[in-house]
Amino acid sequence: MKTEDKLLLRALRGVHVERHPFWLMRQAGRYLPEYREKRAQAGSFLSLCFNPDLATEVTLQPVHRYGMDAAILFSDILVVPLGLGQEVGFQEGEGPKLAPITDAAGLARLSDTLDLEKLEPIYETVRRLRRELPPETALIGFAGAPWTVATYVVEGGSSRTFETVKGWAAADKAGFAKLIDRLTEATIAHLTAQVNAGAELVQLFDSWAGALDGEAFHSWVVEPTRKIVAALKAVKPSLPVIGFPKGAGAKYLGYARETGVDVLGLDPEVPLAFAREVLQPAAALQGNLDPRLLLAGGPAMETRIREILTSLGKGRYVFNLGHGILPATPLEHVERLAEILRTTPARG
Ligand code: CP3
Repeated sequence: MKTEDKLLLRALRGVHVERHPFWLMRQAGRYLPEYREKRAQAGSFLSLCFNPDLATEVTLQPVHRYGMDAAILFSDILVVPLGLGQEVGFQEGEGPKLAPITDAAGLARLSDTLDLEKLEPIYETVRRLRRELPPETALIGFAGAPWTVATYVVEGGSSRTFETVKGWAAADKAGFAKLIDRLTEATIAHLTAQVNAGAELVQLFDSWAGALDGEAFHSWVVEPTRKIVAALKAVKPSLPVIGFPKGAGAKYLGYARETGVDVLGLDPEVPLAFAREVLQPAAALQGNLDPRLLLAGGPAMETRIREILTSLGKGRYVFNLGHGILPATPLEHVERLAEILRTTPARG
């Protein structure tokens, strides 16, 4: 099937659809027993990401089980710093660990450009997925947005306070801008390679956009995203770009207008009335079921799914969570969600 005829892409264009397309952030992952098996077989998370056989298989797992309308490439946002020469590791249960880069001298240790050779197994996975996915399933490529990736590069892992990265950005704006520029160029190279290998749309994960405000939000979230969108559209004008500035609150509207993203990924805190009345005229929407409701299941989950569909489903819309699936989520809850989405006709 041609890309533009797939349900997900039709819904994004605002063409009438029979039902609302859906996929779930982190749909391949630890809540699936078949994922845990492949993960154990690979030995480490990164060897799973860099093995095209296994990465293809785990990308397909949730699609085979639940029939999502899109698959998202199995990889991680931290392959970009890895491809720039930073040491990146994932310790079981502890999350990512990087050798932190906190100043200009640290930045000099990073390569100027992304090592596409090193990341080639990822692009090979994209090519295989285009051959092996069901014909109607769309393939999503992704990258972390520069600000979110910078938080890991500078803090050396997950952070709650962002002290070091915010400290650098505030004390030495020009120096920190060089890191953001390096990450912006690397992200463009990484996403372009995924698109050339067959990714049909791309998502930029800006998971920590909500940690910034005012001028900092503009410089480190909006501007790099705008450059990435422009560069991708220059390569392929029809490519839909999904921006997910988690926690951006009222700044979602300015983000949509100024970056040029086609689709806004909504986190669970975005009120539905604001989304429908203010954001949907500016962009297609994706989201925003709270992953904790999927974990809980039952009537609370089902009522909320229907509320979201009623509120956002009359415009350009793709159903998703507001953040990634939690590893403890019961399989039956995902099955129920998928059943509701597969059987509820779209109205409007
Ligand atoms: O199914 C999918 O959505 C595709 C795969 C995917 C992963 N990570 C796999 C993964 C995607 C899109 C990501 C994005 C990602 N990675 C983000 C942005 C989205 C978000 O959650 O905010 C971030 C911040 C990262 C960085 C990262 N990777 C962290 C903080 C962690 C540790 C926390 C955790 O959940 O374990 C990872 C590891 C990771 N990435 C796992 C998976 C399946 C778990 C690793 C394992 O299996 O041991």
